Amino acid sequence: MLKGKKILIGITGGIAAYKIPFLVRLLKKSGTEVQVMLTPAARDFVTPLTLSTLSQRPVLIDFFNKDDGSWNSHIELGLWADLLLVAPLTANTLAKMASGIADNLLLTTILSSRCPVLFAPAMDLDMYQHPATIENIKKLKSFGYRMIEPVKGELASGLTGVGRLEEPEKILEVIKDALNPKSVFRGKKVLVSAGPTYEPVDPVRFLGNHSTGRMGIEMATAFAGLGAEVNLVLGPSGLTTDDPSIKVYPVTTAEEMYDRCMGIFPESDITVMAAAVADFTPANPSELKIKKETGKANIDLVPTKDILASMGSEKKPGRILVGFALETDNERSNAKKKLQNKNLDLIVLNSMKDKGAGFGYQTNKVTLISANGTEKEFPLKSKKEVARDILLAIEALL
Ligand code: CTP
Repeated sequence: MLKGKKILIGITGGIAAYKIPFLVRLLKKSGTEVQVMLTPAARDFVTPLTLSTLSQRPVLIDFFNKDDGSWNSHIELGLWADLLLVAPLTANTLAKMASGIADNLLLTTILSSRCPVLFAPAMDLDMYQHPATIENIKKLKSFGYRMIEPVKGELASGLTGVGRLEEPEKILEVIKDALNPKSVFRGKKVLVSAGPTYEPVDPVRFLGNHSTGRMGIEMATAFAGLGAEVNLVLGPSGLTTDDPSIKVYPVTTAEEMYDRCMGIFPESDITVMAAAVADFTPANPSELKIKKETGKANIDLVPTKDILASMGSEKKPGRILVGFALETDNERSNAKKKLQNKNLDLIVLNSMKDKGAGFGYQTNKVTLISANGTEKEFPLKSKKEVARDILLAIEALL
């Protein structure tokens, strides 16, 4: 959800500046572009080299770069940022921000910015409780800036009280929230399965299907983009995702998919079974390669466990369970039967008759049927767009 976002972090001269390199690392891992700016005093607390190495950009401190005579445009920087964070914010810079003082590059950039501004005061407890600080914080809030409250704990002075900078992981959550404020999926735990399963016949052969996993991966990506914590159980597929908010669990067989999914399912608010799970598996896979000299080979098949049906029977109230149905005939009535028999909230029907829909295509044409009786047929769309349509239908159920 942070991928491609541009975040400007202003660091001021407080001891908590040591936490910011960790935050920069977390942000970079989330795919954001990070521009770090230091006030001159901050340079004594954390080195520009550390921050430029982690952010992969030169750290900006002054208006002018003495080496080449160029200058850093506070206006361009202010407009560049999708979000500006000042952390840690000292009482001094806080007071300057409250008064609109612009005597360094960071303060000038803050005045030039149009994006959301977050500020994270960190200082000794008496400074934090001083009426001047309290007034200045009120003023910043009245500008529409959002405060990341300092937390209680042991302070650098040795005193204990409120004034510690929040931990980088928590700051990251506030940044996500500020950039995607309205998503109902924020913080929801989502389980998505995708791809085919391979059922071994012997050490070199398997029974599989044509699923690529694309539809499920697009679903997982769409959920992650809206702030959900996503677990993706992925059958053997040439596709995957490097989205840092998606935890990928590779599996091969229907049995492995069952074990992994059923382990994660109880904790999941929303589950989407987009995987094309084999309905049958060889009863006795050969330990050795089956040789053609044996003449005719028969493979005995036994049914696999129906993961979606197991989930449906264990589903707790308030949880959402979504299945897929790929049908060749009597599409709607077959899909409705599955919806009912497997205790689903929503089923995504695609018909093998529709051109450009189903396995191997970048596109899909679906009908969404929900347990509350609504039914909506969509035109052929990219799987990314279909994923969004399904999320909107799930949002309506929530
Ligand atoms: N599914 C599952 N476990 C299985 C088989 C299927 O969880 N062993 C899930 C799929 O991920 C999909 C839904 O069930 O979401 C529908 O799969 P499908 O194979 O079409 O349904 P079946 O009930 O097996 O019916 P059919 O006879 O049409 O194959």
